[in-house]
Amino acid sequence: MAASAPLVLGVETSCDETSAAVLRGENELLGHVILSQDVHRLYGGVVPELASRAHLRALDDVVDAALAEAGVRLEDIDVFAATAGPGLIGALLVGLTWAKAAAYACGRPIVGVHHLEAHLFAVALENPAAQPPFVALIVSGGHTLLLWAPEWGRYELLGETRDDAAGEAFDKVARILGLGFPGGPAIERLAREGDPAAHPFPRPMLGPAPRPGEPEEFDFSFSGLKTAVLNRVRELEARGTLEEERANLAASFQAAVVDVLVAKTARAAEVYGCRRVLIGGGVAASRALRSALAAALGPDAELFFPSPRLSTDNGAMIARAGLFHYLRGECAGLDLAARADLPFPGMTGR
Ligand code: KG4
Ligand code: ZN
Repeated sequence: MAASAPLVLGVETSCDETSAAVLRGENELLGHVILSQDVHRLYGGVVPELASRAHLRALDDVVDAALAEAGVRLEDIDVFAATAGPGLIGALLVGLTWAKAAAYACGRPIVGVHHLEAHLFAVALENPAAQPPFVALIVSGGHTLLLWAPEWGRYELLGETRDDAAGEAFDKVARILGLGFPGGPAIERLAREGDPAAHPFPRPMLGPAPRPGEPEEFDFSFSGLKTAVLNRVRELEARGTLEEERANLAASFQAAVVDVLVAKTARAAEVYGCRRVLIGGGVAASRALRSALAAALGPDAELFFPSPRLSTDNGAMIARAGLFHYLRGECAGLDLAARADLPFPGMTGR
């Protein structure tokens, strides 16, 4: 894009990453800082009040560092974008209020961004070829969504989780196995030393091929799988063999989650006759998921993943999604509110 392309500041504070990015146009990431809040490791999960306070303490410095890396001043920013939801309401308010105040002070527009739509834009930021139409799987700590995107801004919801999100299941099972938080990376590390076939855990909602249009076709459920792991852990504990089985348990659990995610995504690609598939959200960092999907979709599929840095929460994807809505004239007023349950923009179906 030309040097005159808008300079966007993206601010992300929906959960436990405080992040800011300076993006010029669609793909030129000039500055990007992601600060992960370590405090939650003490509690095995995100503590909302602590998240809000940590955002409040860090955000000024995080933005300053992103601007410095980009070599620009706050006054140079053309568009301010911040996550408006979904997420932890207190955490969202910190970033959104900061961005609204900065936009007002600089006399620039503010755009509210949907966090999950931004996870899709993270992929396009790094891979300009990752454009609709595509089937997308968004797998994060709070959400598991399968959707069909005929174009940016227009989405059809195919399926979602009925209980725990995929990332949440990783985090809970990591806790059961006495691993750290976040659980996904810890399970993936331990799983490398284990046998994925050691414990035949259930593959929820992957029964015999359902009839098209039934919710089972594309929905997910991970809570029963988590309970199956818990029950197995208790059995092994009673037998005194838990310690030697931990890697096998991690590998077997990971294999079950990956099998379900892969099978449903491949089914959606087949039903929609679409060979282009985008994966977004924190669980997209999973190498096990990446290689299993690539194998299932075959060599003629165009499979797009974000880099590990843009898989988990970050300001760059907020800036990229903000740019899209800004260019469509979808700027907000200063009454823009944060919403913990913000609806996915342009989403139809189900
Ligand atoms: O998108 P994200 O950073 O935050 C939310 O919007 O929720 O996703 C965080 C989630 C956590 O549940 C974490 O355990 C999971 O992504 N995750 C992984 C991996 N890396 C992060 N899950 C499986 N395997 C990984 N390598
Ligand atoms: Zn996220």
